Amino acid sequence: MPKIVIVGATGMVGQEMLKVLDESGINPFDLILSASEKSVGKMMDFRGKSYKLIGIKEALDLKPDIAIFSAGGATSLEYAPLFAAISCFVIDNSSAWRMDPNCPLVVPEINSDSIQRDHYIIANPNCSTIQMVMALYPLHKEFEIDRIVVSTYQSFTGTGMIAVRQYESEKLGKIPDEPKAYPHPIFENCIPQCDVFLDNLYTKEEMKLVHETKKILNAPQLRITSTAVRVPVHGGHSESINVSFKKQVDLSKVNSLLSNSSGLVLLDNPQKSQYPTPLQAKGRNEVFVGRVRLDESQENTLNLWVTADNLRKGAATNAVQIADYLIKKSYVKS
Ligand code: A2P
Repeated sequence: MPKIVIVGATGMVGQEMLKVLDESGINPFDLILSASEKSVGKMMDFRGKSYKLIGIKEALDLKPDIAIFSAGGATSLEYAPLFAAISCFVIDNSSAWRMDPNCPLVVPEINSDSIQRDHYIIANPNCSTIQMVMALYPLHKEFEIDRIVVSTYQSFTGTGMIAVRQYESEKLGKIPDEPKAYPHPIFENCIPQCDVFLDNLYTKEEMKLVHETKKILNAPQLRITSTAVRVPVHGGHSESINVSFKKQVDLSKVNSLLSNSSGLVLLDNPQKSQYPTPLQAKGRNEVFVGRVRLDESQENTLNLWVTADNLRKGAATNAVQIADYLIKKSYVKS
């Protein structure tokens, strides 16, 4: 049986990971749950069994086969190489290893073939990147993307427990505990800052969308610009995408490609006000696309709206799919 450790099991993504693992085809496996020192000794349930949380060093000593990390970049930077050194496959949800040329950045529907037997650190892309490339990849294969302009509407759950606590306090009219997740209220607000600002005046999140998209699509020449906004939404992330192609675009072909791609659901019936919303995406593993229309101001250009549960396909689901791939390829014992 593979031994799977969840590092960061008590966090927003970690808890979703347990739900996704429970629903997955990975069975049987030995489960190890790890969190920070403050949680060590606490119990968590999975499939009717109680598990005692252990520290990350103890988890390493148990020599797991797969370690799914959702405990922040600093933990990943320090510990992923230690797990990799004992031939444990690390699937890392942080941004720590994504742009490392030796680490594949994987969305299984697109590029699982980039994983080689000796790639012990595999990066899970940023949640906003995953849902965007899921929607655009089938169109890229057919029409070849020239340029993307994307604006995101991102759930506060993507910032972890600290953001959920800030939102809940503000909703109750209380002053949130310090440190807060955001420099402004998130309840009844929109904050055009996801992560820190960089020297080029973009945020780190905006540049993740730029760099990660090029790496996953293996398209270094692709032009892309983004604006990432945090919104008071619990359910999932949304994106407004304007995308231009090098080849002539045909709307019926676009709809057929979007309808027939694994992991994608086309929900687009304007007459009946049917289109994806983050609330409708909540709890689902798929990425939803709607409002598909030609940009009347520019040739071979589309506008579309994409939603997904950021904790699922944007994090846990994608990571569990990678784990499943490693087992199916027999890179890990089953
Ligand atoms: P804990 O709950 O004990 O702090 P989120 O981003 O949703 O807040 O979740 C972060 C997750 O990462 C939590 O499960 C947290 O555990 C865990 N974590 C933080 N630091 C470490 C660490 N050094 N080792 C293991 N888990 C960690």
